[in-house]
Amino acid sequence: MIELTGVHKSFGAVEVLRGIDLTARAGTVTVILGPSGSGKSTLLRCINHLEKVDRGTVRVDGELIGYRQAGDRLHELSERQILRQRAGIGFVFQNFNLFPHLTALQNVAEAQISALGRYKGVANEKAHELLGLVGLGDRAGAYPRQLSGGQQQRVAIARALALDPKLILFDEPTSALDPELVGEVLDVLHELARAGATMIVVTHEIGFAREAADTVVFMDSGRIVEQGPPHEVLDNPRHERTRAFLSKVLV
Ligand SMILES: Nc1ncnc2c1ncn2[C@@H]1O[C@H](COP(=O)(O)OP(=O)(O)O)[C@@H](O)[C@H]1O
Ligand SMILES: [Mg+2]
Repeated sequence: MIELTGVHKSFGAVEVLRGIDLTARAGTVTVILGPSGSGKSTLLRCINHLEKVDRGTVRVDGELIGYRQAGDRLHELSERQILRQRAGIGFVFQNFNLFPHLTALQNVAEAQISALGRYKGVANEKAHELLGLVGLGDRAGAYPRQLSGGQQQRVAIARALALDPKLILFDEPTSALDPELVGEVLDVLHELARAGATMIVVTHEIGFAREAADTVVFMDSGRIVEQGPPHEVLDNPRHERTRAFLSKVLV
């Protein structure tokens, strides 16, 4: 389903991703852990070509992301083709990134109309359905400023789901929330996982990783240090760096 091979990325002289190999099957949850600055966000951004990789390839459902192959050369896709690919990959950000001048309903409907060309009536119907799914059926007319952080993030999740993505990427979806609001967002993530969504989640919520992840990946300094099922990586890490990191987040 998702296959990253030898992904390298530098910003100037700083090598942020140093050869990432990662695969995830359809319907699985991959949780990425790692210290700040280890390259987690950059990795997610490379998966939907918000960042161009310097070397290596990203494939989703067998389709090369960002490029087309001609012989042994890669040619970058047109902006339009990139946007089409990106529409199939949901992205949920730490800071929600909702449009402040649009209601919850309009936020969830907008990309369906602009990116997928759905009719407004169809998009609105789907938006209502998804707001219901994230427990906000009664807040469709609210503007982001009228919603709590947890509610805004649930709208953002509904917005990601609205494009029927093959894959959803979450970049620290609960890090900007007050502690009492984290649970309602994690509940939605659990729900999606149970429903069989393919998800890659960067988070420091170890409890979520333990319960929901099929694979836990620990990154440090642009490399994957270790990966495996939660009971191995979280309870029996093989690497000292993983142990040191976990001892800090598991206080
Ligand atoms: N657009 C950018 N330009 C320059 N440096 C960047 C850019 N984005 C990220 N970096 C740097 O890359 C490193 C990894 O960042 P990031 O992927 O955000 O890590 P993480 O999400 O694990 O905290 C950091 O040192 C960061 O400063
Ligand atoms: Mg980050």
